[in-house]
Amino acid sequence: MSCPALPEGFDFTDPDIYQHRLPLPEFARMRQTARVWWIPQPHGIAGFGDDGYWAVTRHADVKEVSTKPEIFSSHLNTAIIRFNEHIQRDQIDVQKLIMLNMDPPEHTRVRQIVQRGFTPRAIRSLEDALRERATRIVAGAKEDGSGDFVTDVACELPLQAIAELIGIPQQDRSKIFDWSNKMVAYDDPELAITEEIGAESAMELISYSMNLAADRKACPAKDIVSQLVAAEDHGNLGSDEFGFFVLLLAVAGNETTRNAISHGMHAFLTHPDQWELFKRERPATAADEIVRWATPVMSFQRTATQDTELGGQRIKAGQRVGIFYSSANHDPEVFDRPEVFDITRDPNPHLGFGGGGPHFCLGKSLAELEIRLIFNAIADALPDIRLAGDPRRLRSPWLNGIKELRVTYG
Ligand code: HEM
Repeated sequence: MSCPALPEGFDFTDPDIYQHRLPLPEFARMRQTARVWWIPQPHGIAGFGDDGYWAVTRHADVKEVSTKPEIFSSHLNTAIIRFNEHIQRDQIDVQKLIMLNMDPPEHTRVRQIVQRGFTPRAIRSLEDALRERATRIVAGAKEDGSGDFVTDVACELPLQAIAELIGIPQQDRSKIFDWSNKMVAYDDPELAITEEIGAESAMELISYSMNLAADRKACPAKDIVSQLVAAEDHGNLGSDEFGFFVLLLAVAGNETTRNAISHGMHAFLTHPDQWELFKRERPATAADEIVRWATPVMSFQRTATQDTELGGQRIKAGQRVGIFYSSANHDPEVFDRPEVFDITRDPNPHLGFGGGGPHFCLGKSLAELEIRLIFNAIADALPDIRLAGDPRRLRSPWLNGIKELRVTYG
């Protein structure tokens, strides 16, 4: 297990090191020095093993781990979802019910079913409603004159998009939004949301969604829920599976997209030439560069199913492997001048949506649509938007988040 020493004082499982910046210089040194690193974790951290894990920071290696589920399994807690601990205490085996934590063939079965809700046609059918919503959100912010971009603009569209996609009735949306936001509002002392509150909200959302599924099973309608739970011929999701799928969407599709939008705005405001270019030309390549630049999900993890070798290093069965998208997205082997925010970058084979394996982000097209629509609406209605302070970042070793971004709208 001998590895070169990590840059001094660098423990990138410590949420505090992400509070002001992504540790890009440290990642660069790691990429240059070794392909895999052993990161000791004497105290452990939610989601990772107690003694430590292997860290993979190069683009090619992140892809390799992502595309070999038979060796690098997702079965043991892939995502660092904070409320897992509480649910486990209640003896419910959440891991197996969330598709992110499944391996083939079970994962393949669920993925084939839920993919029906994410076809290009299904996503296109949301465009008009989401455009109208984006325009309204931005108009509301403009009236305020100035404020926090995250709460005024970035928050709402991702949740509306999920609600539209699933067909959550209008009258239920505010409680769905409330539960979803509580689930992801951890570590914000101002909101005083504890992990227990997050766990309770998750349970409420699951139980609401299970009831919705049971209703549609009994009485199918023309919506995605009915398609996912009621189709007899192509298999279907059980009500409990549907409940956990909605939970996953509320986590995977909510804060990720919100952070992409907030980081995108911050990047534009700190790179005025790119904002001018966007306003003029609206390049279709912008959304991908925003996701590469932001890398809202910084890492995931896998667990080795057998003794194996990666980058000349022996990895034992049962050991964990962290894959660092935030590092891969700045790998100069793949990206020309990775430190430059360039909305015309093409090709842009970033790994912000995953390393191309079976778990590759199901919501990629939806997220890109949302990013395109919101920045088009901002460019139309708030062309002179300005930064009014430094962003306040989320304290997380997993999500690259902005909690607050003060701006003046015009
Ligand atoms: C999986 C990122 C938006 C639904 C993932 C993964 C990443 C990711 C890194 C794991 C990939 C892997 O392990 O190989 C992002 C980012 C987003 C975003 C950066 C926004 C910019 C969305 C949206 C939805 C969504 C809008 C749906 C509404 C999912 C689901 C999975 C997933 C269901 C699990 C897929 C599976 O296990 O097969 N996403 N995501 N994501 N994402 Fe996204």
